[in-house]
Amino acid sequence: MKALVLSGGSGTRLRPFSYSMPKQLIPVANKPVLEHVLENIRSIGVTEIGVIVGDRAAQIEAVIGDGSALGVDITYIRQESPDGLAACVALARPFLGDDDFVMYLGDNMLPDGIQPIAQEFAARRPAAQVVVHKVEDPRSFGVAELDENGGVTRLVEKPQQPRSDLALIGVYFFTPAVHEAVAAIEPSARGELEITDAIQWLVARGDDVKASEYQGYWKDTGRIEDVLECNRYLLEGLSSEVLGEVDGASVLTGPVVIEAGARVTGSRIDGPAVIAAGTVIEDSHIGPHTSIGGDCTLSGAQIGYSIVLGDASITQVRGLHGSVIGRAASVGPSSIDDTHRRLVIGDHTRVEVAA
Ligand code: G1P
Repeated sequence: MKALVLSGGSGTRLRPFSYSMPKQLIPVANKPVLEHVLENIRSIGVTEIGVIVGDRAAQIEAVIGDGSALGVDITYIRQESPDGLAACVALARPFLGDDDFVMYLGDNMLPDGIQPIAQEFAARRPAAQVVVHKVEDPRSFGVAELDENGGVTRLVEKPQQPRSDLALIGVYFFTPAVHEAVAAIEPSARGELEITDAIQWLVARGDDVKASEYQGYWKDTGRIEDVLECNRYLLEGLSSEVLGEVDGASVLTGPVVIEAGARVTGSRIDGPAVIAAGTVIEDSHIGPHTSIGGDCTLSGAQIGYSIVLGDASITQVRGLHGSVIGRAASVGPSSIDDTHRRLVIGDHTRVEVAA
């Protein structure tokens, strides 16, 4: 069994971050989404992983490398244009050969694990097995209609009038039968070869296609709000570990991770929160549900339910909530005078200030 991770998407909904980093590298609980994905795949015993990458290949390779640090063996497969999920399967055919494989969208988080679903696939080995999850509004997903035994009777990509509330959530198990389907389908209305259409082709041919309902927490980290929500969920599972320095004037409550080389003075940190190596926090109030990346400086700051990426600084600014601060960004008092707000912000950036 192999795995195919799709990590080529451009992530326009994650601007401005996706201008400078592939969306799959956005940190959740201080670890890139893609790393969470690869660990999830390793946890079902699959280590031979093909990763489809687009024009951000170099950045992804710089962070993930050959996968050995994560205990997996990565083969990068370069995609020149985003032609759809099924096109990725065709592109990866030389890597996949005639093996079964799990296909995993590189921005989908299923932190409660997919072991039981992988076991079901291994035991019954249908032509394809999709993973579904109940959602309130399925119109922006592939939607599965099932019979009473979990057999798929129909799959529709982004239906206007969904006939079920079961969305496809970015994880699919396949036998090599999928390659015939991929070769047979035509591009959809959005001009892409849809994996949903390929699986529907198998259903229509009478192949055995099963669905397994994932009962855990799921997030497609496509938007900033989803990334923050997912960060909150992952931090909920944190256990305290204080390896960095915390002075006697500081108070830590709840689960807090302070990595080695971080320094906290005169501050309050309400967990769950994680502070990465090299970060200095003074006279600040951090948390809950906040991750601070490495080598940041926070002084006189108050920030909760937020993500701060590496090398950023926040000085004398309180009341920050639901914020994502980019790499090496600086947030601080006005350098003009104390009646003005000064913004030097990038394209597609969002600033929301109290009236
Ligand atoms: C893709 C699939 C869709 C699936 C979704 C899950 O949609 O086409 O069937 O439900 O991922 O995240 P896209 O993100 O390309 O719109």
